[in-house]
Amino acid sequence: MIEKELLENPSPWMNDYAVAYYESIMRPAMRILEWGAGYSTIWLEKFDPAYLVSIEHNKDWADALEPYLTTTDLRKVDTYPKNFVNEWEEQSFDLIIIDGIDRLQCLYWVLEHNLLAQDGIIVYDDMHRKWSQQDYIDAWEVLEDEDFKMVMQPNSTLEDRLAASLDGNKLEDKDITLFAHRVK
Ligand SMILES: C[S@@+](CC[C@H](N)C(=O)[O-])C[C@H]1O[C@@H](n2cnc3c(N)ncnc32)[C@H](O)[C@@H]1O
Repeated sequence: MIEKELLENPSPWMNDYAVAYYESIMRPAMRILEWGAGYSTIWLEKFDPAYLVSIEHNKDWADALEPYLTTTDLRKVDTYPKNFVNEWEEQSFDLIIIDGIDRLQCLYWVLEHNLLAQDGIIVYDDMHRKWSQQDYIDAWEVLEDEDFKMVMQPNSTLEDRLAASLDGNKLEDKDITLFAHRVK
């Protein structure tokens, strides 16, 4: 299940623009909460976080990944965020990544528990779906209403995307990750 060549150069499962931006916001000693583990979790460890917790629902995948994680607090749960009990203090995390299952509920959950630090960032993957899926529209609107500064990578409009698809560009080039910065 684990691909050895990806282990040598682990990276978040995102487009190149998103990975470059992600890298630019990383600082040492961050406190990080990740919903949905992957090669991204191995990559996050390289930035020496003060605390990194990653929550994964697929037990086989979590078991496969676990030997390659050294500092991560990996939580294997059947599902989330339903029934997930909060054990962290308010504003505990500098970075929260929403990249697994039930993403909108994860967003509500972290906002409800006020887990993001004052100048923290939420990474919300696949935000291009806001042009086609209600739960992504809702996530976008919640973050906008909360006055987050929204940075899309790549920063494409629906028109750009349609033009790119007419030009025959690859589908992966059209995935978009949102970096929502909390502004004090
Ligand atoms: C969109 S992936 C993102 C995982 C991670 N944040 C990343 O960027 O690598 C979401 C889910 O897919 C599953 N998954 C991720 N990578 C996988 C792989 N290489 N093989 C099997 N399942 C995988 C896991 O259940 C994970 O929570």
